[in-house]
Amino acid sequence: MKRSLMLCMMLSALASTSAMANADLAKAKNCMACHAVANKLVGPAYKDVAAKYAGQKDAEDKLVAKVMKGGSGTWGAVPMPANPQVTDAEARTLVKWVLAQK
Ligand code: HEC
Repeated sequence: MKRSLMLCMMLSALASTSAMANADLAKAKNCMACHAVANKLVGPAYKDVAAKYAGQKDAEDKLVAKVMKGGSGTWGAVPMPANPQVTDAEARTLVKWVLAQK
């Protein structure tokens, strides 16, 4: 009983550190200059992005490409510039994190 409780606590600690790590990655890669999780800044709130694409299987690939190359027209006239500072793997990690926001 005690052991499984410990395991539970360890797992949830692990899960929250990785969520933190992704938020830190977003900060380090300058995404948070234009985005916030809960509010629209220059770009859409990440929780609005997550709501828009909920349940769409191809959204992840589409958004990874958009984060890397930039683009406009989905949320308004303001374009997102290309983000050449992120690798494909980093963009995927960030998009997964964005799509998990609620
Ligand atoms: C200079 C400001 C700026 C920066 C920096 C920026 N974004 Fe954006 N982002 C925008 C704008 C503006 C839009 C809306 C584009 C549109 O309407 O199509 C957007 C849209 C998005 C979307 C939704 C795209 C869609 O088609 O629905 C995602 C996901 C996203 N950004 C993630 C990121 C990530 C991850 C980073 C960091 C690597 C980042 N953004 C950096 C301004 C920015």
